[in-house]
Parts: sequence; structure tokens; C-alpha cells
Amino acid sequence: MNNKEKANEYFRENKLKIKDIERPVYHFTPDIGWMNDPNGFSFFDDEYHLFYQYNPYDIKWGPMHWGHAKSKDFVNWDRLPVALAPDDEIKGQCFSGTAICDGDKHILIYTVHNDGKEEQTVEAGDGVNYRSISKASVIRVEHLPRGFSGIDFRDPKIWKEDGIYYCIVSAKNESGLGSILLFASTNLIDWEYKNILFENNGDYGKMWECPDFFKLHDKYILVVSVMEMQAKGREYFNGHQVLYFVGEYDKKLYRFTPIDKARTLDFGFDYYAPQSLNVNERTLSVAWLHDWGNDLTPDGAKWCGQMTYPRELELKKNIIYQMPATELEKHYENEYKTSFCLSNDNKFQDTELNSRVARLDLDIEKIDAKECIIYLAANHRYNSFIKINFKKKTLKFSRRFSGLTKDAIDERKIDIDVKSGKLSLSILLDRFSVEIFVNGGKKALSSRIYTPVEANEISFIADGEVRVDACKRDIVE
Ligand code: FRU
Repeated sequence: MNNKEKANEYFRENKLKIKDIERPVYHFTPDIGWMNDPNGFSFFDDEYHLFYQYNPYDIKWGPMHWGHAKSKDFVNWDRLPVALAPDDEIKGQCFSGTAICDGDKHILIYTVHNDGKEEQTVEAGDGVNYRSISKASVIRVEHLPRGFSGIDFRDPKIWKEDGIYYCIVSAKNESGLGSILLFASTNLIDWEYKNILFENNGDYGKMWECPDFFKLHDKYILVVSVMEMQAKGREYFNGHQVLYFVGEYDKKLYRFTPIDKARTLDFGFDYYAPQSLNVNERTLSVAWLHDWGNDLTPDGAKWCGQMTYPRELELKKNIIYQMPATELEKHYENEYKTSFCLSNDNKFQDTELNSRVARLDLDIEKIDAKECIIYLAANHRYNSFIKINFKKKTLKFSRRFSGLTKDAIDERKIDIDVKSGKLSLSILLDRFSVEIFVNGGKKALSSRIYTPVEANEISFIADGEVRVDACKRDIVE
């Protein structure tokens, strides 16, 4: 039995051991084991395919396989056999990569990681089974320009334009900084190095992982998952963080030039390695709702790792706006709308609003107040909260009292727009996560929580007068 068959047998035998209540309702999770980055997010044969960095055997990172699932609505997933497994043929682990649909073939490109050395390899398949198209890796260390080695050379992103395949790969340069290298090919097997698409000048952490590059409206977007970022103001924070640059792409020089400094794609505690997908005039994006630095997984858990609910991206005045993909609307139930006024530190609670698995849309207007707090996933013991300071124009998310028992970052404050005292929030709540979209998705914050699921209260408080229009919809499978 090879490693792929072994992984699939293990997966079949163990997947039913996790009770439904132990999983998120509409955020993708592995059936058993550990998951990190989304991989190969693509549209093939009228369905969305999602692969993922996968270790079926443990809830910790380990030998990397590619798990695989497909869906039409991102809520109900058809779990497919493990697509890639480390084996004797490719001699290494299957690290992150991307996919395209090329005629009737589904093409996967990914990093083979072997003893620290990294190269890129390609497989083709029919949506279920995949096979290597060449004996050796296709983008190899020998393709690298001077100053680069095969150490930290990973996470290819592929696209096809005018009959030519292009691929960017992240590589660490001699100064230890991430550079995005661009390669081209006419047949997926023979690749030629073209240029450094863009590189880290030292302002943005060290190594960059999981580069993504796509057109959004009239601009090009480069997204990078940054390692060892250092905090600066309220835009950048320490550790792993996802940044995006908006800019122009010179197709002759194979060079990207940003028009502005990098912005943070998501300010939550748990957001990494997003992948985009352009399909039917939409740009979708999905990310790992997790962070390498925060080890929060409760002891005894049987799975680890969840994805964000996919988002639709828009570019407005060179800022990416993100909102949950509209497929979610088919899963709304029990819509409840209400309007109320908060005043003088009186806690407002309407039991009809309570829910732990829901979308909550709020239009908030300051009449005369400094602060307003929204409690979520709460009961007498636990809560997570969003605190808005109208004067300082800040929003703080806290999961300090969400039931954490491990040492993890639990509060973050960001700058927000409060125009004429008004702002809007859309909140996606699930059993193990909170995704917050501020002002139509101009800023997003995604975080895990492991609060007992009975904690389902939603309440509000303000130190003065604040008007709130609220709409809650439960989300069902
Ligand atoms: C990002 C990452 C990638 C790598 C993969 C390994 O989270 O470190 O750079 O390909 O995870 O699982």
C-alpha cells in the first residue's frame, strides 16, 4: 500500500469518529487530523475544489499531504480522497501550491519539500485522481537566478494567459528576505526564469510565503503571507501576517510596481495563506483561519484547522473590500430584525437575537456616546467582545474571556472609519470562530474562539446614546 492509499484508508476508518457538534457548522474543517493552508482553490467541472495542507494522522503539523474536497456552496462539501501524499516517487512532502483548470485537465502545482530543499512539481488529474506529468520537479534549484538557493523556495501560484503558463514562487534571497520570482512555460514541464516580480525591501518581515497575484478591477494585487513581521502603528502586528500591495504589472518586464505601502488583509488573530480564485466575474478568496503562533487547540481535539468562509473581493479606491460569498445566503434561517437605542450603561439584550451560529449585521450610529460594546458568544461566564471608541475611531476585538486556557494573543485594536458617527459591522459567528467585516468589508478580523457552544448570547452596552439597527440570521447546514 502506498502512502496515498494508507492515508485514504486511515481517513475512511476514522472520519466518523468526530461528532457533528464538535465541528464548525459552515467553516470547512478536515474530517480528522491537522489542516493548514488552502491549496489549489479552483473551479473545475462546475464545482469549487479546495485542497489543503493535510496530516491525517495527528492534530499537529506532520508529513504533508493534500486533502481534497469540492462544493457548490462552500457549506456542504464532498470529501474526496487525499490527492497528494509524500511518497517514494516524488521523495518529499507535498507543500502548498495552486491549481488551474486547463481544458479537461485539472492541473496542480506544488512544492516538494525534501530535507529543507524545495522545488516545484506538477500533477494533472480528472478532479479526483492526479498523476505527476514528469519524473523530476519542473521548477528546480538550477532555474534560480544568482543569490538564491533551494532553501525556502516554495508555494507556486500558477495562471495561464494567451496560451502561456506563468508561475510565481516565493524564494528567500541572500539577505533572508522574501522575493517573488516569476517563471514561464509553454508546456508545464520546461520552465524559464523571467524576473523578480517584486521583493521585500526589509520593511515587511523576512521570508514571504504563499504569494498570490491577480487582477482586481483595473489594478494588480500581490498578496504575501509574511513571516517575522514587526509591529508598526495599528496597521502591522508582530509575527505572521497577510499583506497586500495594489499596483501595476508590466507584462514585458515581468515586474510589479506597487502604488502604495502594503496593507493588512485581515486584522484578526487567525488568518494566513489566502488563495484567490477568479471565476464568473467574481474574485473569491479563502484563507486558513488559524495562526502558527497561537497554539489554542483544546486538548483532546480530533481535528485542527479550519478555513474562513470564502469571501468576495472588490477594489474601491485601491483598498480591498471583502464580504462573505453570497452562497451563504441559501443557508440563512430565522431572520430577525430589530432597532434599539442604547443609553447610560444599561445593557441591552433581546433573546431573539441570541445565536451562536449566525450572521449578524449591525448599523451603528453614535448619538452621544464615547464607547459602545457588543458581546458575542456570551453567557454568565464567557464572552468575546467588540469595543468601538467613536472618538478615537478605533475598534478592539477581545477574546480574553472566551474560555482560553492557553497563552495566546487575545486583544487587538484597529483604526476604523466612523463617518458622521456611523459604522456598519457584519459578523459571522460559528462554533469556533468569529469573522468581523467593518464598513462593508473595508477591514476584516478573523479569529478562533473555543467557547462552549451553549454561550450564545449577544448583547450591547454604551456609555451614552447609540442607535443600533440589527439583523440576525441563523446559519444552518
Ligand atoms: C505556510 C506554509 C507554506 C508551506 C506550508 C507547509 O503556512 O509554511 O509556506 O508550503 O505551510 O505546510
